[in-house]
Amino acid sequence: MYRILILGSGGREHALAWKISQSPKCSQLFVAPGNAGTMQCAENVSLDILNFDQIEEFANANNVDYIIVGPEAPLVEGVYDHFENSDIKVLGPSKKASQLEGSKSFANDFMRDFNIPTAGYLTIDLSMIEQGYDFIDRQNSRIVLKADGLAAGKGVLILDDKEEAKAELKAMLEGKFGQASETVVLEEFLDGIEFSVFVLTDGKDYVILPEAKDYKRIGEGDTGLNTGGMGAVSPVPFANQLVMDKVEERIIKPTIRGLQERDYKYYGFIFLGLIMQDNEPYVIEYNCRMGDPETEVVIPRLRNDLMQLVESTFDGSLADQIIEMDERTMATVMLVSGGYPEAYEKAKKISIGEIEEKSVVFHAGTKLNNEGELISNGGRVLAISSYGSEHKEAVACSLRSIASIDFEKMNYRGDIGFDL
Ligand code: AMP
Ligand code: GLY
Repeated sequence: MYRILILGSGGREHALAWKISQSPKCSQLFVAPGNAGTMQCAENVSLDILNFDQIEEFANANNVDYIIVGPEAPLVEGVYDHFENSDIKVLGPSKKASQLEGSKSFANDFMRDFNIPTAGYLTIDLSMIEQGYDFIDRQNSRIVLKADGLAAGKGVLILDDKEEAKAELKAMLEGKFGQASETVVLEEFLDGIEFSVFVLTDGKDYVILPEAKDYKRIGEGDTGLNTGGMGAVSPVPFANQLVMDKVEERIIKPTIRGLQERDYKYYGFIFLGLIMQDNEPYVIEYNCRMGDPETEVVIPRLRNDLMQLVESTFDGSLADQIIEMDERTMATVMLVSGGYPEAYEKAKKISIGEIEEKSVVFHAGTKLNNEGELISNGGRVLAISSYGSEHKEAVACSLRSIASIDFEKMNYRGDIGFDL
């Protein structure tokens, strides 16, 4: 029996807590800082997830066996390394391996070195701006500019016009996204449909979890600003066996081989952001954690005991684990605050009525106020996930549940899965 601490406070962390709390291997579950949903299945603790000394003190005092890290920031800051010589096991890659997400140039160089299909690219700093302009001039399609470092999901620009791209490149190198864009990766534009594949690895063996497709734009029909994610679907109909075999052979296996050859410690999830161009999968990004809202559809489809998988990740038996997936489709629809992803108001009272039997409500930006009432506490507020025989039925079920949920200026996309 394990005592487990999850770091994070979003829908992803509620879905992980919901799943782990059902595990016969879990005797005590904490979430730091958590939200009003994680309180229903775990004990929330108020810790700063970037203060590793504080986390260590709590973990020692409470005999925590495993720390499961939700978001990327603690990983990129080295939470794995902080606990490396202790008895506490941290599910997540080392600081070095987290650079696969933390630095676009690191990730692209890694893919080049291990022959993993990705876009052609050039990495530059301000001193090489002329080479950047030449790269832009050579493109016959759209121009992709990426801030090298973490930029809260805003560091990627895709531009049609070469002159505009040059101006943006200069602005980025001069600090448009702060230090994150002092180095910029220019990429060839890949044209196709995106999806995501999730892997759990110990850096040597791996299991493949259900794949998913998320919907990042705020508006229906994939229009308007990018968000953290407005919904997701799993499975992805076009990710058939042939596609998944290619992903495994050309992307997952060489990625794991690369981790081994470079001796990058990696006990955790790899999130592969993929795009299908001319029927071939290419990597557009690595993330060193699960996705949000992808977790809210991937985890409910996972039949395995998640703590058994975590235990196997650390005791060398991951290769013996067989992933069992629920054959049904799961779709999630995010309820967001009006105005999100731009300015929005918080502290709106949330009422949740009768929910469909096949729906699960995962909390994201929620908390209880001093009166114990449920209020909004972020841009993304609730993820309503539902099972269905296919994605249309699953989304329709979420929409029926949403009909009984309300908060002022609530917004959502009713068309999740529209392009499948
Ligand atoms: P990233 O932060 O790397 O995931 O990029 C954000 C989004 O930009 C991705 O989800 C894609 O939609 C798009 N994108 C990134 N790189 C490329 C590329 N080389 N070609 C086309 N689209 C891209
Ligand atoms: N939904 C995309 C992400 O978690 O990065």
